[in-house]
Amino acid sequence: MRPANYPAKIFSVVKLLLTARLRNEDIAFIREYLNKQEQILFYTLSAFDQKHSLNVAYTLRDWLGKRSKLRLDKIYKAALLHDAGKARAKLRLRDRVGQTLLFYFLSPLANYLADRGSLEHRAYWRRVLYVCKYHPRIGAMLAREIKTEEGVVYLIEHHRDRERLDEPKELTMLREADELN
Ligand SMILES: [Fe+2]
Repeated sequence: MRPANYPAKIFSVVKLLLTARLRNEDIAFIREYLNKQEQILFYTLSAFDQKHSLNVAYTLRDWLGKRSKLRLDKIYKAALLHDAGKARAKLRLRDRVGQTLLFYFLSPLANYLADRGSLEHRAYWRRVLYVCKYHPRIGAMLAREIKTEEGVVYLIEHHRDRERLDEPKELTMLREADELN
């Protein structure tokens, strides 16, 4: 997993907490780009992950406008679902900030615990850190289960990978929009 700008992420979490309620236009956007099954998956996310995912999609919309040669429906769907794997750990805010700080200040320990965790691990922190580190993989699995198109699943699965020169442009843009939000 590539390193993230964790102080900026903590600031984003606090900001999202203040504005986490969905507006009518958010709901309309979700209905436009996600099918029923994908909407169910989206709404399993916490309120601030929902809002974060919408903000990632809106950033991409601002960048791409209407005349992009890229497939906007695919990019917006990937943006809305890119963190779907996080729904598998019901995180309290305190713990969300805690795991972000842990990965920032004690990265070897956080990675050690994450790599020895699992979705069903009895130890809460191993479960949480596992989901934090491997949420792209978990999200891809969940999207695949509901038959989301493979191109979108690919973007979900690799959105935290280190940038590669030969990667699809959509992936680079998704990663950048994610980091800004
Ligand atoms: Fe994200």
